[in-house]
Amino acid sequence: MLIDDIEYVIFRHPDLSAVRRFMIDFGLLDLAQHGDALYLRSYGDAPFSYVTQQGEAAFVGMGFRASSQTALNQLAARFSTSIEDCPHPGGGQYVHTVDPDGRRLEFVFGARRLESLPSGGAPIAWNDAHARNRLGRYQRPAYGPSHAQRLGHLAVFSPAPQQLIEWYGENLGMQPSELIHDGNEANVLAAFMHLDKGAEWTDHHTLAIVGAQAAGLDHVSFECRDFDDVGMGHMLMQDKGYKHRWGIGRHFHGSQIFDYWTDPAGFHVEHFTDGDRVNEDTPTQLCPFGRDTLLQWGPPFPGL
Ligand SMILES: [Fe+2]
Repeated sequence: MLIDDIEYVIFRHPDLSAVRRFMIDFGLLDLAQHGDALYLRSYGDAPFSYVTQQGEAAFVGMGFRASSQTALNQLAARFSTSIEDCPHPGGGQYVHTVDPDGRRLEFVFGARRLESLPSGGAPIAWNDAHARNRLGRYQRPAYGPSHAQRLGHLAVFSPAPQQLIEWYGENLGMQPSELIHDGNEANVLAAFMHLDKGAEWTDHHTLAIVGAQAAGLDHVSFECRDFDDVGMGHMLMQDKGYKHRWGIGRHFHGSQIFDYWTDPAGFHVEHFTDGDRVNEDTPTQLCPFGRDTLLQWGPPFPGL
C-alpha cells in the first residue's frame, strides 16, 4: 500500500479574496496564508485540504498522504526523484512528480494532523417508513455553510484515458471500481479508480478519469457531514447567489448524494455524502455509457 488517502488540491486563482469567500461559504475554513498562497482546511484532521496561489486560473494538481516512510521511499525511487522537506502547513517530507497529462502529484508523509473540528448536529436519525428512529424530537439542522470533512475525490479529463488509467494502476496501485465503455468493452471512455488498500474499505473512487479532447479538470469533491449538510449548504450557496452547476441528486457510480457549484474562476466543486466503499474483493464492473452513468435520480446533467 502506497497511499492512505487523497488529501489536498492545488489551484491558481487570479482573485484570492473572491475564491476564499466562495470556498468558505462552500464549507472550508481559513488556515493560513503563506505569501501569495492561501491554505484552507476542512473539518477533518488533514493538515489542509485546499491551496491556491495568486495567478492565472489553473488546476495544478493534487496531494496524497503516503502510507509510510517505506512508501515514500518507494515513490521517490519510482519517480526517480528525491525526498524533500514539505513546504506546506503540517510539514513532514514529500516527493513530487507529474502524471502523463502534466498534473502535479505530491506525496506527503509525516505531516502534523490537525484536530478535527465539531461539525454541528448529530448524525441524522431517519424516520423511514419501516423504521422510526427519531421519536419525540425534531430534525432542525442549523442554517449555514456545509461542513466539508475532507477532500474525497477528483474527476479529471484526459485525451488518453486508457493510458492514464494504466499509469495510475502501475505507479500508484489504483484499481478501477467501474469502467465505462462506448458499447464495445475494449473502448474505455472513463474509469472510477479506488486506492489500493487491500482488505481495508476505501472510497469507490478517489480519482475519476474521463476521456476528452484535452487534459483538464471536471471537478474536485469534498465529503460533507450528511444529507442535511449537503442540503443546507445548497440553501446557503443559493442565497449568496453563487453559480450552481448540477444537483441535488444521487450518482450511479459511487452512489453519492451530490451537488455541484462553480467557483469564481469557473472550476467546479462538489459536495457529496453517502458514497460507496469498496476493497480488494470488490469486482470491477464494466458499464456502457448512458443516462445511468451520470445519476440515479436528480435533475438532468446540464447540456444533455
Ligand atoms: Fe464527483
